[in-house]
Parts: sequence; C-alpha cells; structure tokens
Amino acid sequence: MPLVTSTEMFKKAYEGGYAIGAFNVNNMEIIQGITEAAKEERAPLILQVSAGARKYAKHVYLMKLIEAALEDTGLPICVHLDHGDTFEICKSCIDGGFTSVMIDGSHHSFEDNIALTRQVVDYAHARGVVVEGELGRLAGIEDAVNVSAEDASYTNPAEVEEFVQKTGVDSLAIAIGTSHGAYKFKPGQKPRLRFDILEEVQRRLPGFPIVLHGASSVIPEFVEMINAHGGQMPDAIGIPEDMLRQAAKMAVCKINIDSDLRLAMTASIRRHFAEHPDHFDPRQYLTPARANIKGLVQRKLKNFLGCDGKA
Ligand code: G3H
Ligand code: 13P
Ligand code: ZN
Repeated sequence: MPLVTSTEMFKKAYEGGYAIGAFNVNNMEIIQGITEAAKEERAPLILQVSAGARKYAKHVYLMKLIEAALEDTGLPICVHLDHGDTFEICKSCIDGGFTSVMIDGSHHSFEDNIALTRQVVDYAHARGVVVEGELGRLAGIEDAVNVSAEDASYTNPAEVEEFVQKTGVDSLAIAIGTSHGAYKFKPGQKPRLRFDILEEVQRRLPGFPIVLHGASSVIPEFVEMINAHGGQMPDAIGIPEDMLRQAAKMAVCKINIDSDLRLAMTASIRRHFAEHPDHFDPRQYLTPARANIKGLVQRKLKNFLGCDGKA
C-alpha cells in the first residue's frame, strides 16, 4: 500500500467518534515501536516529522524508514510535516514525498496567516497533498497565569469559518488549553480544557476535522521511573486521558503525541543503565526502549484514541 493522505482517515474518525494518533518520529526505534503497535492493533496511523527531526535524522533517512514501515505493516500511513513555519519547508516536504503538511502561521496576524496558509494549500492541493492550518496559539504554562493573556491565546471561534473558507485547509489545529512539552499545568492546578470553544468550533464547522496539539498525558509512571533513576522532572503534568477521549468523540480527528514517546524511551533507558551499569551495546538498551514505546502506543490506540481495528 502506498502512503496515503489523512482525508479518508479523518472522514471515518469523525463519523466513528474516534481520533487518529499522530506520533512524532525521529529515528528507527521510535518508528518501529509505533508502527509495530499500530500493526498489532490494526490502526490507521499518522507519522509526523518536525523541522527538528529533519535536521536530526535527515529527510531521506526518515522517509526510507517510513517506507520500510509501510512495507512491513501494510497499514494506511500518512506522513505529515509537523509545525512547518514557512512556505519553503512545506514545499520541500511536499516535493520530498510527504502526503500532508502543517503550515503553522499562528504567530502571524490573522490576515498574514490566511495568506501564507493559502499559498501552501495551492501548492499542496495541486500535488495531491493535504494541509493542516492553525488558528490560536497554544498556551504555555506562563500564559495561564494571566487570564487576559490566556484568553488571547485560545482560538477565537468567530474566526474559524472565514479562515477555513479563505485558505481551503483540510484540517484545523485549535488552541483550547493544551500545550507542548511535559509541563502543561502548574502543580496543584486542576487540568482544564476549553471544551466550550471546541463545541462552538464544531457548531460553526460541521463535519470538519479538528486537530489537537500538545496532547501528551505525560504518563506519571514514566515520570516516576525517570525520577527514580537519576532524572529530574519534578511537577511534569499532562492532559488527562479522559479529556482526550472526550475530544476524540467530538470533532477532534487527530491527536498529536511526542512528549509521551520521549518519556517512554528515556524512562526505559535510564532504568536499563541503572540496572545494568556494565552494558554498552546500544541494542541492549534500545530494545527495551522500543518495546516501551510500542506498549505506550498500543495503550493509546485502544484506550482513548479508539482507532484500533479501524485500518
Ligand atoms: O510540537 C513539537 C513537537 O514535539 C516536535 O518537537 O521540534 O523538538 O522536534 P521538536
Ligand atoms: P506533546 O508535547 O504534548 O507531545 O505535543 C506534541 C505536538 O503537539 C506535536 O505537534
Ligand atoms: Zn504541536
């Protein structure tokens, strides 16, 4: 099966009340852990590559590894550029075989975001590639201190119809209180997402696929494992899984996960070195790290994404 776009995946996910997992990939072990999990669960999959991942591993290496995963699993896999911030990087990924790109113009004015996104959509659609746009800025923990700053970063539902209509995007990332990284809420602060905004966006864009970034749960078991074996990640907190399940039942068709993969890998490697200080063959510590990623992804596919058995 060749690489696919996310169009069919999102249509089925929207209708079925589940979400597709979009997992960030940076090397072979991460790709294998994710795709082995998806293969066992018969889940459709989005593998996403950031600018940082392309710099770290090189576009061609990631592309060849993903092609190998495609052959190995027989699954529908979409390869997506995560947070493209210029037309040039989107073009390079489209020309280089990606089936989906994100143009993240959220740091621009509304008008400039529309113009940049439209430029990418025109180039992508002419080549059969789909585009994710973004409206609203994902809150960082600092923003949440100040209510007006917090409000300013959420997506304004009144803007979504105009944005989608003028840009022609295929999906839209919105900001409802999630954030990137392992520190999403302050200790003692009750995790809260603005489901009212999601509901209003869904009302204004019926049937349109919405994307949730910054959606790692920052699984406490991995944070504890890291801290118990020499790590220092106090107060790492993520998005509760029941909230992600709720979002997946609504208009959210794509849920982005990177930090949880990093935690799974790091926790496993830290524990391995603590238990086997004499080991120095990378296969000795990367084998359990890859297995830990596989287990994590399998749980996510079944528990809150609900896309197991949907391939
Ligand atoms: O949203 C950001 C992703 O976690 C990718 O992170 O740019 O460090 O690869 P990165
Ligand atoms: P996390 O940092 O919560 O895993 O979010 C990843 C993401 O949004 C990638 O675009
Ligand atoms: Zn993101």
